[in-house]
Amino acid sequence: MNAHPPAHSPAHPPTHPPADFTGRVVIVTGAGSGIGRATARAFAGAGARVLVVGRRKDALDETAAGHPGIAVHPADLRAPGAAEETVEAATARWGQLDVLVNNAGAAQLMTLADTTATAIADVFDLNVTVPSLLAHHALPHLRRSRGSITNLSSTYGHRPLPGGSYYAASKAALEQLTRSWAAELAADGVRVNALAPGPTESQALAAAGLPEAVVEDVKRQEAARIPLGRRGEPHEVATWILRLSDPATTWLTGQVLTLDGGLELI
Ligand SMILES: NC(=O)c1ccc[n+]([C@@H]2O[C@H](COP(=O)([O-])OP(=O)(O)OC[C@H]3O[C@@H](n4cnc5c(N)ncnc54)[C@H](OP(=O)(O)O)[C@@H]3O)[C@@H](O)[C@H]2O)c1
Repeated sequence: MNAHPPAHSPAHPPTHPPADFTGRVVIVTGAGSGIGRATARAFAGAGARVLVVGRRKDALDETAAGHPGIAVHPADLRAPGAAEETVEAATARWGQLDVLVNNAGAAQLMTLADTTATAIADVFDLNVTVPSLLAHHALPHLRRSRGSITNLSSTYGHRPLPGGSYYAASKAALEQLTRSWAAELAADGVRVNALAPGPTESQALAAAGLPEAVVEDVKRQEAARIPLGRRGEPHEVATWILRLSDPATTWLTGQVLTLDGGLELI
């Protein structure tokens, strides 16, 4: 008798096959750089039609270059009506929506001593209100497709960030929205999950207004604290966004997956 069951027997299922998004329509926000750009390209590589959103058209064009499945939609998502217009742009073009990736977001450094109402509103607007309005307008389409929402949190969504408490609080809010929406939408077959990356190569530190020398210093310090010895790469984060969003990931909802090279272990 053969000691090894056949490769596809239930006892030895094949390892997770590469995600297949053929025929699916995906919106990725903040796709002109970093994690969003890698994610949009990964979805396109897996067969999806992808609407990429961000303020800089040239950056979106660069994301789309060489990927015929990607269409660009330049927009400031904080502008009135922008969330609805974004969802309409995808559905008018392709007739359906299967996946919403709420990736656009920004870090913000502000101590309690320096806190202002405007700065609090700014970070919550982009990191909490924008994903909420996109999810709201996407919902009828996601119900039809029994699709999914993947939100980008951060390790700071569940750990303290001295000097960046409102960024951390905005990501904590997004994690809690993830769990509540997952429970609210489960009966419709719509799954909602979040990914919480640790320090990953992107434009985020520069976008937070830090000078280049400080950015390099922060990167060195972060890499030194990570047990796997380095910061993450956007494509490593994109892989897990695709897995969480994959229609084949049928029984996962309401979860926040930390992806951080072991940072939270220590
Ligand atoms: N990199 C990290 O270490 C890290 C760690 C944990 C979590 N995250 C999260 O991962 C997500 C992606 O960040 P990233 O690291 O890839 O940073 P990034 O390179 O700065 O990307 C953020 C994107 O959001 C877009 N964006 C910002 N404001 C916008 C607005 N008002 N309307 C539309 N788009 C807007 C930006 O494009 P435009 O400027 O062209 O609009 C940019 O492409 C964020 O939610 C971030 O909080 C990142």
